[in-house]
Amino acid sequence: MAILKIARMGHPILRQVAQPVEDATSPEIRRLLADMVETMGDADGTGLAAPQVYAPLRVVVYFVTEARAGKDQAAVPLTSLINPIITPIGEEIAYDWEGCLSVPDMVGIVPRHTRIRLQAETPEGKPIDAMIEGFHARVLQHECDHLDGILYPQRMDDLSLLIFREELRHGVPEKAKRLLAPSA
Ligand code: NI
Repeated sequence: MAILKIARMGHPILRQVAQPVEDATSPEIRRLLADMVETMGDADGTGLAAPQVYAPLRVVVYFVTEARAGKDQAAVPLTSLINPIITPIGEEIAYDWEGCLSVPDMVGIVPRHTRIRLQAETPEGKPIDAMIEGFHARVLQHECDHLDGILYPQRMDDLSLLIFREELRHGVPEKAKRLLAPSA
């Protein structure tokens, strides 16, 4: 296993559309996944897509802690997905903070679909077909965007809410509070 270098916003690898993986169970993919998990842990991230470590392949790893999962949502253990495809279900959108290891020290308020269908393969080559909601759905949309060369600031509709995490000590912007308020 190895800790890999993480590409930062502006590097061309992060703008590429990643290639599908032909054999999810190959030793190369197993090694890549192990390195991605180690790199994500070292960088204290919650998700990592292969293009972020200079591997232009459709592979993501992530987890969701109980604290981030939110009310009525279960935590998600460390998960590896090969060739994930997500499809929005319904029109509902929610706003929440996101950060990204490729956009260090910053956070932004990003609109995402609240419900999605996930189709993917496991590292054992088994198919997944599931309905995903809430913060888990947000993490998947963020990670799958990386596979299409998209970073979260490109999904924002108000760039005044793209800020340095450290500056949150001065308080959360009023606009952000309004967007984060649960809709009645
Ligand atoms: Ni990211």
